[in-house]
Amino acid sequence: MSSNRRKFIKQLGSTIILTSAGLTSLAAQEEHERRILRAEKRISANDKIRIATIGMGIMGFNDTQAALHSQGVELVGCCDLYKGRLERAKEVFGQNIFTTNDHHAILDRKDVDAVIIATSDNWHSRIAIDAMRKGKAVYSEKPMVHYLNEGLGEIQVQKETKMVFQVGSQRVSSLAFKKAKELYQAGAIGKLNSIHASFNRQSALGAWQYTIPLDASPATVDWDKFQATEQKKYAYDSNRFFRWRNYREYGTGVAGDLFVHLLSGIHFITDSKGPDKIFSVADLAYWKDGRNVPDVMTAVIHYPETKEHPSFQVSLQVNFISGEGEVGYTRMIGSEGVIDISDDSGFTIHKNKMPVAPGYGGWDSYETYPLAMQKAIADDYNKKYSDADKQTPKTETITYQSPEGYNSSFDHFDNFFDSMRTGKPVVEDAEFGFRAAAPALACNESYFQNKIIHWDPIGMKLI
Ligand SMILES: NC(=O)c1ccc[n+]([C@@H]2O[C@H](COP(=O)([O-])OP(=O)(O)OC[C@H]3O[C@@H](n4cnc5c(N)ncnc54)[C@H](O)[C@@H]3O)[C@@H](O)[C@H]2O)c1
Repeated sequence: MSSNRRKFIKQLGSTIILTSAGLTSLAAQEEHERRILRAEKRISANDKIRIATIGMGIMGFNDTQAALHSQGVELVGCCDLYKGRLERAKEVFGQNIFTTNDHHAILDRKDVDAVIIATSDNWHSRIAIDAMRKGKAVYSEKPMVHYLNEGLGEIQVQKETKMVFQVGSQRVSSLAFKKAKELYQAGAIGKLNSIHASFNRQSALGAWQYTIPLDASPATVDWDKFQATEQKKYAYDSNRFFRWRNYREYGTGVAGDLFVHLLSGIHFITDSKGPDKIFSVADLAYWKDGRNVPDVMTAVIHYPETKEHPSFQVSLQVNFISGEGEVGYTRMIGSEGVIDISDDSGFTIHKNKMPVAPGYGGWDSYETYPLAMQKAIADDYNKKYSDADKQTPKTETITYQSPEGYNSSFDHFDNFFDSMRTGKPVVEDAEFGFRAAAPALACNESYFQNKIIHWDPIGMKLI
């Protein structure tokens, strides 16, 4: 895109003169140009990036496919603890790929430049640290850590090794979030004061009761390695392995799994480093299948004023037995409007401004005063305010729809590989990743310890 055109788009964003149709067609045009640029990008044979994926479950397959969508990327190997998934990896990516159940065997390979870590949450931080120390770039799935005390150590290793490291909350690269950020930063909703965001579901799969293969057993699953991160050991249990999200020992509950996406989007748009107070309540309302994490959780989180943003309040909810069905949104409320973001697909801005004049009459004390006083008040009011002051400014709605078939994971991987090739900063580095993960994990702490969690968003530690 020419720099003139980029400047033009920036100007449009910052002056908010776009009509709804204009914004959407601009998005389509931008996407068209991006696709041309992508196709034109020539990657020489010795500029190939060779990747391996560690954790070859649902997201391992998705991430690998998204990564291979980027130019000049090749898959070398896959690592997983269940044999059937390694077999499937060969079916999908070719019989020649290297497969193993030992992540060290991946990291020891000289032909691997970068790893995708898509294991259960309990392994993210350990494998990321091992990988960076072995000189590999890391794309780590969210949440960056399983426990709050893992974050600073991982950030330190990234600083020491200087390896390219990106966390996998793809909405940070999403076109819809980028455009919403531009308009928010340009004042589209006035001064932000609160945000409501949620991820609601109403299905067994949505509530993490994933399909278990018929051959699941200690013969096909490396159960000891799976639970090696925890002191307390359990007898083999297919539910714990294939539905690990339902157990705190390997997962991070609805907060670590889903609040973290909501917080990543919020931090990205507001440029926030994070909150100072976190409180949550929760229940296990419906999915009583042996899980030890709640299925309905509501959190109230406070963000202090900083140079990047005013103070604001966030309420987050995940409801896995929601009569609303599968609904997720982020609603940012400001003094002059609302941004309603529905994931990657787009957003709507409703602009509502107050008139300058406060008004009188109606549900007001005005009519409780003697007639003479009412007349005096009316005369005084009319002297003070012009007709223009009394007008309620016209409401305005701006809608942005991401281009058909848009997938933010492709952009997130493009950003990661661009950083590897050019040295330009990643869009979601370790500090960003931990600053989003930590308040999410603090929601679990708040619920399980029944207390308000105080957090230092700059120092990234509990107070
Ligand atoms: N960014 C997103 O939108 C998104 C979406 C879904 C999942 N995720 C994240 O991706 C991760 C994986 O989720 P999933 O749904 O694919 O889970 P999954 O259960 O389908 O797959 C996890 C795989 O990791 C493997 N594994 C566990 N420990 C391992 C180890 N030490 N070495 C090698 N393999 C190991 C398991 O064998 C399993 O096959 C989670 O952390 C989740 O939060 C992110």
